[in-house]
Parts: sequence; structure tokens; C-alpha cells
Amino acid sequence: MPEETHPHPATTPGLHDERKADEPCTIVIFGASGDLTVRKLIPALYHLFLEGQMPEPFRVVGFARREKSDEGWREEMKAGVEDFSRTRQVDAAQWNAFAANLSYHRGDLTEAAAYTGLGKKLSSYNNKQLANNLVFYLAVSPSLFGDVVDQLHTAGLLRRKEDEDEFWQRVVVEKPFGHDLASATQLNNHLIRHARERQIFRIDHYLGKETVQNIMMFRFSNAIFEQLWNREAIEHIQITVSEDIGVGSRGGYFEEAGTLRDMLQNHLLQILSLVAMEPPPSLAAEDIRSEKVKLLKSIRPMTPEAVARQVVRGQYFAGTVNGDLRQGYRQEDKVSPESDVETYVAAKLFVDNWRWSGVPFYLRTGKNLPLKTSEVRVQFRPTPNVLFAARGDLDLLPNALTLRLQPDEGIFLRFNGKVPGNTIATRPVRMYFGYDSEFGAYTPEAYERLLLEAMAGDATLFIRRDEVEAAWRVVDEIRAGWGDAPLTNREFYEAGTWGPEAAEDLLARGGNVWHNPQPSS
Ligand code: BG6
Repeated sequence: MPEETHPHPATTPGLHDERKADEPCTIVIFGASGDLTVRKLIPALYHLFLEGQMPEPFRVVGFARREKSDEGWREEMKAGVEDFSRTRQVDAAQWNAFAANLSYHRGDLTEAAAYTGLGKKLSSYNNKQLANNLVFYLAVSPSLFGDVVDQLHTAGLLRRKEDEDEFWQRVVVEKPFGHDLASATQLNNHLIRHARERQIFRIDHYLGKETVQNIMMFRFSNAIFEQLWNREAIEHIQITVSEDIGVGSRGGYFEEAGTLRDMLQNHLLQILSLVAMEPPPSLAAEDIRSEKVKLLKSIRPMTPEAVARQVVRGQYFAGTVNGDLRQGYRQEDKVSPESDVETYVAAKLFVDNWRWSGVPFYLRTGKNLPLKTSEVRVQFRPTPNVLFAARGDLDLLPNALTLRLQPDEGIFLRFNGKVPGNTIATRPVRMYFGYDSEFGAYTPEAYERLLLEAMAGDATLFIRRDEVEAAWRVVDEIRAGWGDAPLTNREFYEAGTWGPEAAEDLLARGGNVWHNPQPSS
């Protein structure tokens, strides 16, 4: 019998069935003139509309300070879809049908009158659900999160949800969520005054990525891998999130944030928690999130001495990325010429639990590296030094499993094979699964999934309060270890290289090397 083949539908292998947001609602975007709105949010909503996944009816209100007409804002948004969306195509009829639901509300985020006006606008819809089922998307500076929520509460637009309530309101909060544990706790305490935890949706857009969701599916629906997913079989794990761009126009933000807060606190620790967590008792949001929190809490605390040994920071100086000349970080716009802010971090973390005790997790991320990629590489233990390994002259490598999260999404397994012929020459070979070849080019943007989940009220792909706080604990320890010390020479790296020398040493001390992701074939 031929092996059974399935006519795979090109559907989301996500955590839940194909979904549609059923309840009519209005999405109010605070920061409607900002980059995120035009590049990500509106293109995502437009694609959800095309896929028939928006509720019927729905409305989108863009809230910002600049004077604009509804028509003017719609035109800007249309240009955004043309320039930045994954399809870059706008079907005139579809766009008009979508854009009829978009309107602009001019207002100052700190003025009560703007919120009263918003309330009037919502009531004018003459539809109770559109006026009361509300997603408030805070795409504004984090310093304003608290103010907006206070104002929404005072205007009677945001209510703490009781079980028997007919309508719901949700607050979607963009990162950065605080800048350390104390500020994140303070912000949480503030938000919780006017909304219950289950009404707060903290974004980490990596959780909206198909391949990141697939980490759980891969681990817990395949018996052969999960059996090996522990200290007995695994030597170490590397997580690389590299970017081939510099800080661009975000120098001002970056001087405050740095890569540790911008990338490691959220995206890398989220990937780590999905790679290393225990199986949850169910797929319910709270069960999954509780396992992630447990994992984050099991990361071994680091003293300043441990930080000095286990964490490397770096900053790029001028160089060439893909033939493109890049200036150094200190020469970027809005960056101090003496800045010691990191644009690269590599860390060796340990997870102190029964499964992972003693297994190093190497995390690294940086700007102006040679490639844009995100990868998890699981390096298995080598074979005992007998038989082929004992010969010493054969080309053998330990097994490795690579989850390629982006781009060229896929999974590779490396093992050793015999080179055909009359000798016993060997060579590492690979087995490969590619999303594209298997499922076709189904690559929805992370924000599509996240907006859909926020409308549907499922918090699985969002960060819970204790989760964000547990992640800040790790980051705060690292920052405390760095203190005010300036960068040393070994911490600078040329743009277009894989990071500072100190990062190579970090692995070399454990007898390892970084596995640099390969460019797309
Ligand atoms: C954002 C960071 O959260 O993630 C940016 O603020 C970074 O600095 C971006 O460039 C990377 O996301 P992606 O989806 O392009 O890998």
C-alpha cells in the first residue's frame, strides 16, 4: 500500500480551529498616525477582511492628534496596504467595502473631551454591539498607556468585566511593557484598576508567527522528539534572532531600550519558554501560559559575577551588510556619539528543573548582522567514542535539529550518512521539511492572527501579567550585572559580521561554536 497522503488544506496549524471573530465590535486604534498602524495593523485588518474573518459588522476608529478627514486617513491607510502589506495589492472594490468601516477621530490622548467625543461617535453607530464591544489598541508611547486607560474608564468606555456582562472591552498593549520589573509591575497595577487581567492583551508579535506557534505543536504531537527533549539527549540549545538592519530612524527609542529590552526580554525569552516548557494539561490559554511562567521562573538567577561570565553585549561599528555600507551605531540619528547602548546580546542561560538541569541555552540577537533569520537549534549529545567516532578521521557531527522560524520556515534534522562507495567515508546530511513546499505560500502576518485572537477574546498568544514580570526579572539581573561599565573593545562588532568576539568566547568556553544560520537557498 502506498503511504497514506493527505490533501493538506493550507490552513493554520495553530492552536485553535480556523476561527472567525463572530461578535460585532469596534477596534479603536490609539496612535492612528503612527508607523505600526499603517504598516501592520490596517494591512492585517484588511487581510482578515479579505479572508472573511472579520465580524459582521465591524468598525475601525483611528484616534490621533493630527487634523485629518476620514477620507484623508483612509487614503493614507490604503497607501500603507500597497506599500507594506504582504500582498501589496489592493482590490479597489474590496478596499472600498473595507474602508467604509474606517473612520478617523481627532483628539488629544490626555484630554477628557476627546474621549467623550469618541463615546458619541460609538453611540452614533446605532448598534449596541458596535458601541460596547470594544478593542482598544494602544499603539502609543508606553508612557501614555496609563493615561489612556484612565480616560477610557472616566468616559465610561472601559468597564471591568463581570461574568454576567453582555458586552466586553479589551485593551491590547504594545511593547515595551515597562522598562524594568518595577515599572512593569507599576503599569500592571495601573491597568488592573480599570480592567481585569482577562481584558488585557499584552502583545509579543513573535507569538503571532506561525512557526512560533508550531513549536508547541511540533513538540507535543510527535512522540519521537519529545522523548529526547531533555538533559539526557540534548547537549545545548541555541536560539538566534538576527537582523540585517540597523536601528534606522529609531535611534531615540533604542538609546532608552537597547537590544536586551527590545528583543531578549520578549521575543527570545518567549521562544525559549515554548522550546523548554513542560507540556500543559490542556490547550486552554491559562494552562499554556502557566507552563511558560513556570519555565521563566526556573531560569537560574544570575549574580553580577555570573552575568560577567554568561552574558555578552555588543554594539556595531561601520561596516557592510549585503554590499550596503552601514554607519556605526554611535553615528546613527538621535544616538549619542559616546553611547554604550547594546545593539547585540548573547546570553548563556540555565534552566534549573529536572528536565534541563545542566543544559546551556545560548540566546543571541543583534542588529546589522549578515542575515535576517530566527532559528532554534537543538544540539544533541555526541555518540560515545567508539566505532566510527573512534576512528577520528571521519566527517561526523552530533545530531542537530533546527527549527527555522523565519524566513524559509522549516525544520531540518542533521545526521551522519555514509558516502556511497567502497570506503567508509561519512558526511553529515539533512532531512528537511519546508512550510512553503508542504503547505504552499500561506504566510499570514503575525498581526493578523493577533488581532483576530483579540477580537475573539482568546489570550493564548498574549503575555500574562506574571509572565511579563518573570521575564523582567531575568533582564534586570543582566542590567544590574552590566551596571555603568562602558563597552570594551571585544564588545564592538563590525556591521555585517555575526557579532563581537566576546560572543564567540562565550561558546568556546563550553567547547562549542555558534551555528550561524544559512542564507535562503
Ligand atoms: C520588534 C523590535 O519588536 O521586533 C524591533 O522592536 C525588531 O527592533 C522587530 O526589528 C523584529 O521583528 P521581526 O518580526 O521583523 O523579526
